[in-house]
This record gives sequence, structure tokens and C-alpha cells, in this order.
Amino acid sequence: MPETPEAIYQRPSDYDLEHVGDTDDIEFFVSLLGRLKPQRVLELACGNGRVTVPLAEAGAREGFDVVGLELVPEMLEAARKRQEEASSAAQERLSLAEGDMRTWKAEQPFDVIVTPCSSVCHLLTLEDQLAAWRCAYENLLPGGRFVVDVTMPDQGAYADSFRSPARELVEVDLDTFDEATQTRLIRYKTTRYLAHEQRASIRFLYDKFVADAPPERSISDFQSHVYYPREMQLLFMQTGFEVETFYGDYRSRPLGPNSPQMIFCGVKSR
Ligand SMILES: C[S@@+](CC[C@H](N)C(=O)[O-])C[C@H]1O[C@@H](n2cnc3c(N)ncnc32)[C@H](O)[C@@H]1O
Repeated sequence: MPETPEAIYQRPSDYDLEHVGDTDDIEFFVSLLGRLKPQRVLELACGNGRVTVPLAEAGAREGFDVVGLELVPEMLEAARKRQEEASSAAQERLSLAEGDMRTWKAEQPFDVIVTPCSSVCHLLTLEDQLAAWRCAYENLLPGGRFVVDVTMPDQGAYADSFRSPARELVEVDLDTFDEATQTRLIRYKTTRYLAHEQRASIRFLYDKFVADAPPERSISDFQSHVYYPREMQLLFMQTGFEVETFYGDYRSRPLGPNSPQMIFCGVKSR
């Protein structure tokens, strides 16, 4: 893991701008929990509560509690603010904790642990990955489920890294507008794929435009582990899980050659 958190996590409101209109994953997880009917749910690496608070709203309707665990204090603080803006029933259903998904031990176990939005890509070494999977296992009841959501490797974007010399092209990868604050965020990205480490070394460059003021420019470097489906399966198997399902997108379609996501659900079987 990098020693200092990615700069974007110290700017939770910019993180929200990156996710304007992203509701597919939230709907997926709400509907999954509707089917699984848990009593206690943990979201690992819950960030600023973008998914956590809607999960707590679902918990208030359907009768389950939610815990959000997050490493970076700025993100956790923003999650607490979001919690204060939720319905009082959801506020009561939700608790937030500062901690590391590799080592955190809950006082009471969970029926379901989820980790949306490729958060496990922050785990760069096999040791860190195994630690996080084992920690999820320890925090589950027997029969409990661990659901991991990551984007599929973008082989096309990595192709330029195999040229000699390697090339890093700048692409515009997001352009969002937030009505409430009248703010437009344009995000540019360069990618260098380090095949021997299965790592994407990404530079995110941001221009933020508020009304007619000159843009505010910022940068966030991101070292991202690139998971492949078999490896994901092996991580579950090695840590005692049985792989129950793998979805290829937020519409619960099976994993296939053009799937944008891989969402693995493992069951604690022993
Ligand atoms: C892409 S964000 C996802 C946040 C949230 N789950 C969402 O869907 O919006 C990844 C989050 O993982 C957190 N994180 C990274 N490493 C972590 C660790 N070892 N333990 C807990 N959280 C971690 C980051 O601080 C960040 O908030």
C-alpha cells in the first residue's frame, strides 16, 4: 500500500464530482442485499459513504444494520456528514469506523461483507490481498458472504505500455457537472501498465470549473493492482471461501468476454 493516501481521498467533494450520476453499483448492492436478507452488513473501504448511506437507507427499510470501515480520515469525516443528512432511521442503522481492511476485527460478526468500486485495487501485494481476504473471512458468520467488485483489466489501455519506449497517452476519461454547485470536473488520465507486477500506474489530472472562474487544477497518482478473474477466484479459495457466483456487470449478467466488471461472491463454508 502507498504510505500516503491518494490525493483525491483528501478531497472528498472532488471524489463526489467524479461519481456524479453513478448509481448502477448502488442499485446492484441494494438489490443483492434485498435477496440475501442479512442482519449485519460491513462495507470495507467505504470512502465518503457514497454507497454506504444508501445501503443504510435500505437497512432501515428491510431491517439490517450497516457498518462502514474506512482508512482515510477525510473520507470518513465526509461519510459522517453524509450520515447526518440521511433519514433518522438510516442514521440509526449505520455506524462508521476508522480502520484498515487488512487488519480490522469487528466485535460482532457480519452476514455479508461488500467492497464496491475496486477498493481492493489499493492492495498491491499478495500479502496485503491475502490479509484482507482472511480478515473478511474472520469477520463473517459461517455461511456469510464476501462480495468483491472490481473493474475488468482494460487491456486496450495497457497496449501502449508494451511499445518501445512505452507510451503514456493522455485521455479525457470523465466530464461531469454537478447542478447543485454548478461545478464541472474534467478528468484526464495516463496509464502505464507494469506487466510483471500486474500494476497500473495511473496519473489522474483534474480541471475543476466553478462558474466562470479560471479552472482549479490538481493531480492524484494511483497505483492500482490489476486483478484477473482466475486470480480473484484463487484468492477466495486460498482463504477458505467457496465461490458462489461471479457477475460481469451491475445487471447481474454472468461474466463474459466483454464484461466491464467482475463481481465475485464467496461464501464462508467452514
Ligand atoms: C475507490 S474508493 C471507494 C469508496 C466507496 N466504497 C465508494 O464506492 O465510493 C476506495 C476507498 O478505499 C479506501 N482504502 C484504501 N485502502 C484501504 C484499506 N487498507 N483499508 C480501508 N480502506 C482503504 C480509500 O481510502 C478509499 O476511500
